[in-house]
Amino acid sequence: MKRFVGIILIGSFLFSPTFLGAQEKDSAYHSKMQWFKDAKLGIFIHWGLYAVDGIDESWSFFNGYISHDDYLKQLKGFTAKNYDPEYWADLIKESGARYSVITSKHHDGFALWDTKYGDLNAVQHSAAKQDVLTPFVKALRERDLNVGIYYSLPDWSYADYTGHTKLVSRYKIGDEPKRWNKFLKYYQGQMAELQKKYHPDLWWFDGDWEHNAEEWQAGKLRSTLLEANPNAILNSRLRGKGDYETPEQGPPVVRPSAPYWELCITMNDSWGFQHNDMNYKTPQQIVDIFVDCVSKGGNLLLDIGPKADGTIPKEQENILRELGKWTSKHHEAIYGTEKGIPYDHYYGPTALSKDKSILYLFVQGDANGQIALKGLKNKINRIWVVGNGTKLSHDIKSKVFWNAYPGLTYIDLPKEVLDEYCTVLAVLLDGPVDLYRETVGAIESN
Ligand code: GLC
Repeated sequence: MKRFVGIILIGSFLFSPTFLGAQEKDSAYHSKMQWFKDAKLGIFIHWGLYAVDGIDESWSFFNGYISHDDYLKQLKGFTAKNYDPEYWADLIKESGARYSVITSKHHDGFALWDTKYGDLNAVQHSAAKQDVLTPFVKALRERDLNVGIYYSLPDWSYADYTGHTKLVSRYKIGDEPKRWNKFLKYYQGQMAELQKKYHPDLWWFDGDWEHNAEEWQAGKLRSTLLEANPNAILNSRLRGKGDYETPEQGPPVVRPSAPYWELCITMNDSWGFQHNDMNYKTPQQIVDIFVDCVSKGGNLLLDIGPKADGTIPKEQENILRELGKWTSKHHEAIYGTEKGIPYDHYYGPTALSKDKSILYLFVQGDANGQIALKGLKNKINRIWVVGNGTKLSHDIKSKVFWNAYPGLTYIDLPKEVLDEYCTVLAVLLDGPVDLYRETVGAIESN
């Protein structure tokens, strides 16, 4: 899979910035993005044929690890016999997520819903013999969770699709424009169905790197979707026609410059269910990654890969529940918050309330004793432990009345209030956070 990383990186470099830049001044754009920005956590679901043998989603045949014929034999094993969409949605809700994004169709072309286009779908050709997408969307809606539909633009099983690699390079678009048009009608037909059936709040495209915007008719796709729902949000993988950036697998070290972004990440090393992949991140590590996203002003889209019978692997279930314990206790520091302050002032992640008058400090590890805040110009009105309520005392050192330097704030943090995963302190200020950023020199009078 490594060889595609380069392409993905170049791809993401080329598209979105200009488009997102042009949108920045548009207040309708910002208002439609609001729920997404406030939501912070979404659950990604990769569910498809690949769960049967526990192999890479689509890429396993693309990369030649298995033949396409053998890959499709998994249709017989995709039973969904223990599938409980209500249970899935309950678990997602419990995790603290505010939305979910599910693979309606991955690059392999296998559709989870009853599509009239093409014949590779769960109803007609899999052992499940049922539309497995509709009941899930319904369950999400019933729980007030926003609905995201993942859709792969490339369809490596569709006979009239063409791409760049040996396996799917069937013809050149310039040589057979009619054939490409047939594919365009096919995928646009599926999009229209998905729109009509589910009215998604968010579209999560993938695989745009295989063609340019013109070939995909990306502009037309965007305007058709927005005509149907002006508030729909489109991810960036649409050749410059998207609304937010999608860093993948790497929690950003430096805050992404795009105004809206969402890190998508796996719990182990696979998007879909793989029996062999036990390299799970611990709940602690997942909480850390999530805190990183919140403090840098982005979202986390955390993936699960259900089994072919529809059950969610117990390791994944456990992570969702543990995460849920942490998010429900600390909700005030998560939802609707803004990115935090520079690390110079606190050696850890932070977030701010919308009016910037509450500074949330995320205390990682087994901290005990004193927590330091540096160069805070505001007066502190109160400090409490989020989800626990204990009030904390603080004192200020290195502050003398003849100097503008605001001093060092030390907050006492007793062991008893520490959270199992990450303790959060709320620092209520006398107004919007005000930070001292000057260089200190000699004081000529005192
Ligand atoms: C990549 C892969 C795909 C996966 C997606 C999720 O684009 O092609 O397999 O579904 O990332 O972000």
